[in-house]
Amino acid sequence: MHRWNFECAFLVVGVSAWHGQLSPTFYDETCPPLRSIVRGMIAQVLFNTDPRIPASLIRLHFHDCFVNGCDASLLLDNSTSAGIDSEKGAPAKNNSVRGFDVIDDIKTAVEDACPGVVSCADVLTIAATESVYLSGGRCWTVLLGRRDGLTANRTAVNDFFPRPSEPFDQLKNKFAVLDLNISDLVALSGAHTFGTAHCLFFRNRLFDFNPTGAPDPILNTTYLADLQLFYYIDI
Ligand SMILES: *[C@@H]1O[C@H](CO)[C@@H](O)[C@H](O)[C@H]1NC(C)=O
Ligand SMILES: *[C@@H]1O[C@H](CO)[C@@H](O)[C@H](O)[C@H]1NC(C)=O
Ligand SMILES: *[C@@H]1O[C@H](CO)[C@@H](O)[C@H](O)[C@H]1NC(C)=O
Ligand SMILES: *[C@@H]1O[C@H](CO)[C@@H](O)[C@H](O)[C@H]1NC(C)=O
Ligand SMILES: *[C@@H]1O[C@H](CO)[C@@H](O)[C@H](O)[C@H]1NC(C)=O
Repeated sequence: MHRWNFECAFLVVGVSAWHGQLSPTFYDETCPPLRSIVRGMIAQVLFNTDPRIPASLIRLHFHDCFVNGCDASLLLDNSTSAGIDSEKGAPAKNNSVRGFDVIDDIKTAVEDACPGVVSCADVLTIAATESVYLSGGRCWTVLLGRRDGLTANRTAVNDFFPRPSEPFDQLKNKFAVLDLNISDLVALSGAHTFGTAHCLFFRNRLFDFNPTGAPDPILNTTYLADLQLFYYIDI
């Protein structure tokens, strides 16, 4: 089922101009085994203990990138001495991000192989791409060489991060701030959980919208009937 085609991971296609120092081959000289270490460790967790891990890791990356760029600031814990107000505890995230322990283990393995070379931001990025690939998705080229943020901003998370309960126009605006359009919104919202969502976040639209005791009238009725059926199967 799962493809183990290592060739794919090293394919570099159609990238002609790097932004600043970023490059898909950034670690080719300094940490050649990087990608196979990340892939191997995620595969181990995926096949042995936690089938949810690929979705959780791509979600971590999404949550990190959405606020102040892909700088791994999401990984920082509270620290009064360093003035860090951790993003992990932000109410907008609703304690729903997970997989930090796996990222820590990957980073440790990467440090063992190539000490002091690979940023946490790039570990998160590669973990996301490898998670998609291990789940049967496509592989794609990402630019590497991002530096880690040294501060976190919980206020910014609460101000800018999209919430599941937000109206569509507001979500559209939050994505537009990052130059992301409606296609991006739909793709990223679906993909960052691999298409699965907690019933909690949408059941009111199926049964008791706003609350009227009836479904959300704008839902396609065929789609509505399907979702209602799945809801009953699921609970
Ligand atoms: C970090 O500290 C803030 C208070 O400054 C607290 O509200 C938050 O829950 C803490 N986050 C974590 C992950 O412990
Ligand atoms: C967070 O999730 C809980 C249920 O787990 C829900 O009751 C609460 O309203 C959510 N909070 C936010 C800010 O979305
Ligand atoms: C955190 O983000 C907010 C925007 O939500 C901004 O006003 C504030 O200056 C930022 N704080 C730091 C320390 O960067
Ligand atoms: C969103 O942008 C992408 C290019 O980044 C483009 O391919 C796609 O058609 C756009 N979608 C919409 C709805 O404009
Ligand atoms: C409703 O969804 C079904 C498939 O789920 C589709 O065939 C149908 O065209 C949709 N109807 C409208 C009005 O969009």
